[in-house]
Amino acid sequence: MDVLINIFLALHIVGIAALLGGFFAQMKAMGAGEARMTPGMLHGALTMLVTGLALVGLNQADDQEVDNVKIAVKLAVLLVILVLVYIRRDDEEGVPAPLFGAVGALTVANIFIATLWT
Ligand code: HEM
Repeated sequence: MDVLINIFLALHIVGIAALLGGFFAQMKAMGAGEARMTPGMLHGALTMLVTGLALVGLNQADDQEVDNVKIAVKLAVLLVILVLVYIRRDDEEGVPAPLFGAVGALTVANIFIATLWT
């Protein structure tokens, strides 16, 4: 079970890389209001959701404690990210900088929630 949990944790981190990488790669374009919600960012956010839910299930099945409040906060933040990325995914002209910046800021916030909330 530990191996399975660690595999999903690794996939969880791959999801962060896809989401945050898409953000960082476009920081210059963001300044010009030309950043786009790319497919990689959407798939990264969806990967976070699927692997996160799997991690909750696997940890519970393994009788390991999961902090439900922390998970609920992370889930809420991710849902906001998902909605923002999803609704503007076809916007070829680029999205406003504050909207794009919010996706990056919320993703980084979730990383700190995951690591600092003990
Ligand atoms: C942008 C969204 C997210 C980010 C950046 C993120 C980040 C992280 C990071 C860095 C870890 C490893 C550190 C640790 O073990 O605490 C982790 C673990 C974990 N994440 Fe996420 N996560 C996100 C969304 C979610 C969601 C939506 C769920 C559940 C619905 C979730 C459930 C978990 C679980 C169960 C673990 C295993 C460790 C623990 O019990 O806290 N994550 N996440």
